[in-house]
Amino acid sequence: MSGTSMDGIDASLVDFSEKKPNLVTSYYEPFPESIVSKIRKLSNPANLISLEQLGQLDNQLGHLYAQAVSSLLKKTSFTTQDILAIGCHGQTIHHAPALNHPFSLQIGDPNLIAEKTGITTITDFRRRDIALGGQGAPLVPAFHKEFFSEPSENRIILNIGGIANITLLPKTQNEKVSGFDTGPGNTLMDYWIQTCLNNPFDEDGNWADSGICQDDLLETMLNDPYFLTPPPKSTGKEYFSSEWLTNKIAGKQYLPEDIQATLCHLTVRSISEAIQKSPITPDRLLVCGGGIHNQLLIKLLSNELPCPVNSTQCFGLDPAQVEAVAFAWLARQTFKGLPGNITDVTGASRPVILGGIYPGKDDSFLNKLKKNLD
Ligand SMILES: Nc1ncnc2c1ncn2[C@@H]1O[C@H](COP(=O)(O)OP(=O)(O)O)[C@@H](O)[C@H]1O
Ligand SMILES: [Mg+2]
Repeated sequence: MSGTSMDGIDASLVDFSEKKPNLVTSYYEPFPESIVSKIRKLSNPANLISLEQLGQLDNQLGHLYAQAVSSLLKKTSFTTQDILAIGCHGQTIHHAPALNHPFSLQIGDPNLIAEKTGITTITDFRRRDIALGGQGAPLVPAFHKEFFSEPSENRIILNIGGIANITLLPKTQNEKVSGFDTGPGNTLMDYWIQTCLNNPFDEDGNWADSGICQDDLLETMLNDPYFLTPPPKSTGKEYFSSEWLTNKIAGKQYLPEDIQATLCHLTVRSISEAIQKSPITPDRLLVCGGGIHNQLLIKLLSNELPCPVNSTQCFGLDPAQVEAVAFAWLARQTFKGLPGNITDVTGASRPVILGGIYPGKDDSFLNKLKKNLD
């Protein structure tokens, strides 16, 4: 998994032999600075980029994903023969499900991953859902349901990556599971501190904590149509971009740290208001994604919400690995011939098997699959 924060690759080895998926081990490989700047350039709609640049980055990322899998396996006693498949989300370059001709583009050549590792690789999870009129996102709710559902309480799972998304898990089995992107998670805070202080992110939210939230600016931001649109909905960095922020602050004078404080409040308020408008009253919020380390953000969120706020770690899964494990699970759904989307989340016209399969070196992989999954 590598997300919109463009920080690096989270690789996780997951054992599905028991009822509950078990995270065996994980490995994190930060992206080299040269790769980060290329992804940033390609994913900024204001930039004109060449097909050659796109193709080359697709190739480079394919190598990096394959390398991350090899490094992960080196931490264990397993070999490639022990691994049934790789689920690879790819790096999102552009997510535009609302266009006349909707699309979502993830890159990182799966042919290379399958060839370099020898392991069958599944990618391109989003586009089948889009082909059925869906958003293609978020896709993690089906896994959240599988892993975190609890008959004794209404739960909401919150992932704070570059973008934030929630999954609503009602305690009653016959109530619908839903979910959507609430808006920016870390992306605008990351952008602002990178621009002003040249830091990759606001460690523990300390810089935001040194500023004062500007209520007029916060209200202007919260009036953005994205927050007012009912679900299904999904978004990305191409919408909550540097231009978005520039437009909101245009013509006003604010201290840089006050803007950072306001952006932190924006993430919190957009999440808490989405939860308040949702059809369930949560008994508990479980948080995952890198934003969990932003102490100010978590403190503000806890103050806004009427229920306990916990890390997913308290319920058996490292918050840094939830998305990576989710894509391993989604790959397994594909192999089992089962849908990975939830239509109440994405808006697709039916549940569907997601992704494309790129066979590994062992060309009897279908037989191997059948044996493993019978
Ligand atoms: N100690 C920390 N303090 C504040 N924010 C942090 C900290 N560690 C990570 N983050 C945030 O988490 C982000 C990475 O989160 P991640 O879940 O990997 O997002 P994505 O899925 O978009 O890649 C970083 O860009 C940063 O904003
Ligand atoms: Mg990340």
